[in-house]
Amino acid sequence: MQKIQKDYMLQNDTMDTHKKLTIGLFGFGVVGEGLYKVLQQTPSLNAAIRKVCIKDPTKKRNAPDELFTTDADSILNDPEINVVVEVINETEPAFHIVSTALKNGKDAVSASKKMLAEHLPELLALQEETGRSLLYEAAACASIPVIRNLEEYYDNDLLHGIKAIVNGSTNFILTKMFEEKLDFKSALLLAQQLGFAESDPKLDVEGYDALNKWTLLLNHAYGIVEKPSSIIFTGIQNIQLQDAVVAGEKHSSIKLVAQAQKLKDGGVAAFVIPQFVKQEDHLAFVKNEYNGVVIESGFADKQFFYGKGAGSLPTASAVLSDISALRYQYKYEYKKLYHHRPHELATDVFLRVYVSFDNLSYIPKDRFEWLEEWHAQEERKYLVGVIAFNELKENNWWKENNTSLILAPEPVIEDIELRKLRKKSLELAGII
Ligand SMILES: NC(=O)c1ccc[n+]([C@@H]2O[C@H](COP(=O)([O-])OP(=O)(O)OC[C@H]3O[C@@H](n4cnc5c(N)ncnc54)[C@H](OP(=O)(O)O)[C@@H]3O)[C@@H](O)[C@H]2O)c1
Repeated sequence: MQKIQKDYMLQNDTMDTHKKLTIGLFGFGVVGEGLYKVLQQTPSLNAAIRKVCIKDPTKKRNAPDELFTTDADSILNDPEINVVVEVINETEPAFHIVSTALKNGKDAVSASKKMLAEHLPELLALQEETGRSLLYEAAACASIPVIRNLEEYYDNDLLHGIKAIVNGSTNFILTKMFEEKLDFKSALLLAQQLGFAESDPKLDVEGYDALNKWTLLLNHAYGIVEKPSSIIFTGIQNIQLQDAVVAGEKHSSIKLVAQAQKLKDGGVAAFVIPQFVKQEDHLAFVKNEYNGVVIESGFADKQFFYGKGAGSLPTASAVLSDISALRYQYKYEYKKLYHHRPHELATDVFLRVYVSFDNLSYIPKDRFEWLEEWHAQEERKYLVGVIAFNELKENNWWKENNTSLILAPEPVIEDIELRKLRKKSLELAGII
């Protein structure tokens, strides 16, 4: 009996892993051309690109002319094509391509984090309705297999927290500000010259790109389905060289950290904000254009993933892995969303923050729970204090007027702890 079952499984395995994948590719830029090259080097995959849809038919391509089309429908309506790979750089057309592919009975692979984050609820519903698979490992941290690990390995109950550097451009700029003492503008210019930042760097520098990735990862970590706009975030646009000096004095560096922390009441505090990272922290090791993810789980303690978060071949390798997973009908089950009680974003917490500013009149200092440090003599003034999460969620003073807000290491203070601390300070002051 056992032998029969084993033989059947082997036979089935062989069948599935040899499922022929006929790919319709959208986009032949950094990622699309990378995928074309990578597929040529992996003949065992039994996957072939049948057509590539691009926008500009006059551009010279490093592939045979007959492969290209500008007619999206010729791919989306081709019954021979069973996998659509979407790696274009326009959000709404990308959503149209992916949703039509699923509706037309095809599996889809995408790298378009902005599109995926903004349309996550619709895409979840479409996967349910059509039963087709949509995979997007490349959309978060490119070559680091973080989505599939969160999906398959970490049980919700045991996932205490996750913090990550998910944007290579900002990490490159911050590394140069630290190690070569470049000011922000010079570091950004260098990143652009080396191809690590776009000519319009707003999406990266102001934190939007990291936010989109975090929206996706929060879903796979905790079953949270939120619009990116409901997650509190900022980028590195206001960080000053002087902040880097203060960080050095505190034996820390500054990183744009995306963090989610499970609270005692089951809620999840999540945000994307620059943070002081201590020298011994795993994330301090993540430099230049690299990405890193630290997952803290019960019993296993901390685990650290490190790798390239962008670039032609590293990103294509994640797309390739998704294509390969489709051979055996792999789908995200969204276990944390559908099979567990999904978590909700918490707001009832406090954060320990450092704020540097040009003029005190820009800072509502009365709205801090308390202040721990106060440096008013320097040209660039700063304070360290504790503030309610909601104060940052509901106001923008901390992103304006050249004000720079950086979280302290271990920044989250839960309400209960805050009360204890308050009590302790009152006791110390001899009041109670
Ligand atoms: N680059 C990375 O390292 C990286 C990493 C992770 C994720 N991603 C994501 O992957 C996607 C692609 O990035 P990329 O860097 O490869 O972009 P890219 O180099 O700018 O290439 C974009 C490609 O999409 C094509 N395109 C644009 N609009 C189209 C449309 N409506 N129909 C058909 N083709 C269209 C363009 O056609 P033409 O060639 O004719 O202009 C071009 O080939 C983006 O969503 C990006 O966020 C990129």
